[in-house]
Amino acid sequence: MSLLNRVQQLPKGFVWGAATAAYQTEGSTKVAGKGKTMWDDYLVAQGRFLPDPASDFYNRYEEDIRLSAEHGLNAIRVSIAWTRIFPNGDDAEPLAEGVKHYHELFACCKKYGVEPYVSLHHFDSPAALFNQGDWLNRKTVDAYVRYAEFCFREFREVKNWFTINELISLSHSQYIQGNFPPNHHFDVTSGIQSQHNELVAHARAVNLYKDLDETEHLGGRIGMVNVLTPAYPATDSPADQHAADLYNAFYTDFIMDGAFLGHYSARTLSLINEILRANNATLTVEDSDMEELAKAAPRNDMFGLNYYQSAFIAAYDGESTNSFNGTGDKGTSCFKFKGVGQQVDMPGIPTTDWDWLIYPQGLYDTLKHISATYPNLPVIYITENGLGHKDPEPDANGIVADPERIDFVDQHMEKVLQARAEGVDVQGYFIWSLQDQFSWANGYNKRYGLFYIDFDTQKRYIKQSALWYKELADTMADAQ
Ligand code: BG6
Repeated sequence: MSLLNRVQQLPKGFVWGAATAAYQTEGSTKVAGKGKTMWDDYLVAQGRFLPDPASDFYNRYEEDIRLSAEHGLNAIRVSIAWTRIFPNGDDAEPLAEGVKHYHELFACCKKYGVEPYVSLHHFDSPAALFNQGDWLNRKTVDAYVRYAEFCFREFREVKNWFTINELISLSHSQYIQGNFPPNHHFDVTSGIQSQHNELVAHARAVNLYKDLDETEHLGGRIGMVNVLTPAYPATDSPADQHAADLYNAFYTDFIMDGAFLGHYSARTLSLINEILRANNATLTVEDSDMEELAKAAPRNDMFGLNYYQSAFIAAYDGESTNSFNGTGDKGTSCFKFKGVGQQVDMPGIPTTDWDWLIYPQGLYDTLKHISATYPNLPVIYITENGLGHKDPEPDANGIVADPERIDFVDQHMEKVLQARAEGVDVQGYFIWSLQDQFSWANGYNKRYGLFYIDFDTQKRYIKQSALWYKELADTMADAQ
């Protein structure tokens, strides 16, 4: 049965959205007192440019939200730029203009009937805190909780909060892969410690929200967003199976256990300790951390699952080494992690130009796995899924042909529907991304949007995928 027919089975209220992030879309990096993020000096030092105007979402949000509504979207993921509220992360007073801006953005969402799902942190730590160690320094955790409290009380119109976007990507990109500032390669102590500290920040924000809700009746929901990249053994040898287990422990189980069990399971800890030993690395847990995690685990209202790719892992006992494909030149990436394993290609499984495996089965497997493993798991939203592609320019009618993206979403939505039919409680899907935007380590030629942006003129064009996405939305609506 075609996807068009099958989406008719989706219930009324199924969330049908698209995702964005402040730093990737807003531009206006220096207006209204905004502070620098961890990216500003880094991008300039690399000879790249600040994402300004990026997608100019700071000024053009109404156009993008109107386009969303016109194409059948009932929700949008946005993030608040911490540095528009507190320019140094922990200033005594918030910036009035930043606060006003987000009230206006949320009012605009309301006007068009597009529900905002709001992340407090999407890879954009304030530079002032980043320079003191970012999440490795507990000062960032304290400042984040204070910022979160301000936002919870101020933006009461927001009913869906996400604490932190993709805790694992941030740790991996900053300290293992080294393609995000501060560019550490295989600094395993920082890689695991930042995961743990981000989890503590997440748990403290959840506990705070739930406690405030009891007395101040905020009336919303809260959860976290993480990306899951399931690892499969490259062969059925015990060594490859063990390598896949190690990879899953480091890249998935540690955070999922911490968030949804409220502790690290004995199995996860044993695998993590094996990785730490192989890399002479350590993890420090403070007294109150596990208490905070345990208290928060059953209080999450939702889990935002981002899914792009899976990994096939073979055993590896050499030194760690990697190369990152940030250009879209196929076949230029490599990843070998001492004490964990190495990623290998799998004949027959297609990849994007950035070497990401296109493997929809991984989304189904991961949905089934987490719902079987975590009894506390709340409802799931697919908060990001999409295809980074070098899209062609608009044709004479102003339409951009992106059949590859339609195919990608079609295959992944099929797997979501299959998992739902088998009882996994997925209540929404957000394509990454709403409009073309700045890709952190890949610049502007890696496009994901439903709407094409000419970055010289900022004119928006409709992609075929947006028309198809609307057809799915209309089909769902007609069936309800
Ligand atoms: C996710 C992030 O990791 O993947 C987004 O939440 C990001 O911010 C997206 O843009 C795609 O990654 P990339 O590197 O292809 O832009």
